[in-house]
Amino acid sequence: MDQIVIRGGQRLKGRIPISGAKNAALTLLPCALLTDEPLTLRNLPRLADVDGFGHLLNQLGCSTTIEGSRPEDFGRVMTARATTLTSTVAPYDIVRKMRASILVLGPLLARAGEATVSLPGGCAIGNRPIDLHLKALEAFGAEIELASGYVKAVAPGGRLKGGKFTFPVVSVGATENAVMAAVLAKGTCILENAAREPEIVDLCNCLVAMGASIDGIGTETLTIEGVDRLHGATYRVMADRIEAGSYACAAVITEGDVELVGAKANEMEATLSALRQAGATVEATKTGIRVAMSGRAQPVTLSTAPYPGFATDMQAQFMAMATLGSGASLFTETIFENRYMHVPELARMGCDIDVRGRSAVVRGVDHLVGAPVMATDLRASMSLIIAGLAAQGQTEVNRVYHLDRGYERLEEKLQAVGADIERISAG
Ligand code: EPZ
Repeated sequence: MDQIVIRGGQRLKGRIPISGAKNAALTLLPCALLTDEPLTLRNLPRLADVDGFGHLLNQLGCSTTIEGSRPEDFGRVMTARATTLTSTVAPYDIVRKMRASILVLGPLLARAGEATVSLPGGCAIGNRPIDLHLKALEAFGAEIELASGYVKAVAPGGRLKGGKFTFPVVSVGATENAVMAAVLAKGTCILENAAREPEIVDLCNCLVAMGASIDGIGTETLTIEGVDRLHGATYRVMADRIEAGSYACAAVITEGDVELVGAKANEMEATLSALRQAGATVEATKTGIRVAMSGRAQPVTLSTAPYPGFATDMQAQFMAMATLGSGASLFTETIFENRYMHVPELARMGCDIDVRGRSAVVRGVDHLVGAPVMATDLRASMSLIIAGLAAQGQTEVNRVYHLDRGYERLEEKLQAVGADIERISAG
């Protein structure tokens, strides 16, 4: 398994290109199942999860062709076409490796009137049930049975129907599955307390470009008028606001000055506000967002929440940044039940972090010391990179396959702004 080795102490200076958003790409790709015409996605990030999703689409009979990239994009162009579906089954061996595979459930139901998708199981950050996905689909007429670790869903008569569902808990994935199921239903589907993440706005805009009728995009109430069919489209994947926020934390902890090229301030206001709370200079530029810092980060008090609140996907990265802060910072993780896996690893580098249930107090220390550490999940891995960039000496991050799921060309991007970082391939 590859390892990333960092020799800390370099201030990051320069421009970091921000790739297409992983969490947008993973909900845009299944849209190809909703039509027999080609869906072309631009600015698609080069990530393991994107490749994995392409493999799943192929298993279902959807062709995927990579077509290089446009000069104005950092990502690739992929055209996906499901002329006819050859399968409506998402098998366990694929779903267990990539939970986002569950996002084929809604589109398969909408297109084929049936779907058999493995239950994704839990993951490092929590047990992550899919009950809300299933309840929303049932509200639109789906008949669902759980058997032998699989979800078997059927649309009676081959087509879902209008209905209304109010989410008791905001769920990004369940909102995405429900929207993709509703666009071809016979009737009007209403979703209340829907997730409002920018990635869902991207999904809705792509579906509208394909001929869907969706009102309330970006709000917590989505009204979808089902149509008989969707057509192909070309759609550009939004910039990855979590990647951008991650590199912003790296800039702050190294007292650097970077421009996050392609990042959009209006999609990450809570992150930018948290950076300013830490004392960083944050300003929009013509081509992105500039983040600069001198001195130690000020203490922050951050509680994760659904968008537009402070993103749970940013918690580990801000915690790493706070380890060298000038006081005590308080974090509260309200979304997932086990999202502090990075804490024991950060402690190996000399951090002073006290976890009490859903909250964690981080007391700034004078310095961090590089050490061998283990990545456990995607965002935890990034927090170890961020700490290693500021630590004295060498840090080796193991199990970097976690990182490769969500950060494209990480070491190249950091090397280009002065980090002493390299990937050691384990062959
Ligand atoms: C998406 O996961 C993201 N993944 C996650 O990013 C992100 O952390 C999360 O949204 C929250 O923003 C992708 O978009 C591929 P949820 P998702 O459904 O959809 C509970 C990353 O690092 N819940 O919004 O799985 C759930 O347990 C990843 O890029 C139910 O109870 O998250 C959690 O407590 C990690 N029942 C809360 O809702 C359900 O049916 C929010 O989960 C669904 C969710």
